[in-house]
Amino acid sequence: MSRVAVFPGSFDPMTNAHLDVARRASALFDRLVIGVLSNPRKSPLFSVEERIGQIRAAVADFGANVEVVGFDGLTVDFARTNGAGFIVRGLRAVSDFEAELQMAHTNRKLQPGVDTVFLMSALDFGYLSSSLAKEVAQFGGEIADMVPPPVADALRARFAAPG
Ligand code: PNS
Repeated sequence: MSRVAVFPGSFDPMTNAHLDVARRASALFDRLVIGVLSNPRKSPLFSVEERIGQIRAAVADFGANVEVVGFDGLTVDFARTNGAGFIVRGLRAVSDFEAELQMAHTNRKLQPGVDTVFLMSALDFGYLSSSLAKEVAQFGGEIADMVPPPVADALRARFAAPG
């Protein structure tokens, strides 16, 4: 029986913390589908297509069992469409726990056959978030250690001074 997991997120943009979770999950599951949430209400910095492109470039060497797609609607429906029995999420710190617990219980209520699996983010990335990386990039700070190279390039281009 093949074990399929989805790794859903906003990924606006993907950070090294997300990438680390994706890498480890890709070794745990036969197939890992990274799902980029299309949520216009969040007014993201990057379009879903841009985020998918950045993530595909970042995971290019992970192996053929990793896919990157966009999705909207419920994560449990996204999981079902992909034949996934697991939802992967990363936990950076205790502060993440409450919201993640609520999401995991909600998803389990909606779809009891789908379990959420948490991976602890690597210690080095415990402080990292997409918003923090965007803020640092916006004001010209160094982001090389925070995000994968394709994302760093995209952030620099997005915040490059005009002219
Ligand atoms: O990267 P994020 O923003 O922490 O990811 C949050 C995400 C996309 C996992 C969450 O917002 C989500 O699952 N959205 C889809 C809608 C849904 O299924 N809601 C009910 C479960 S809480």
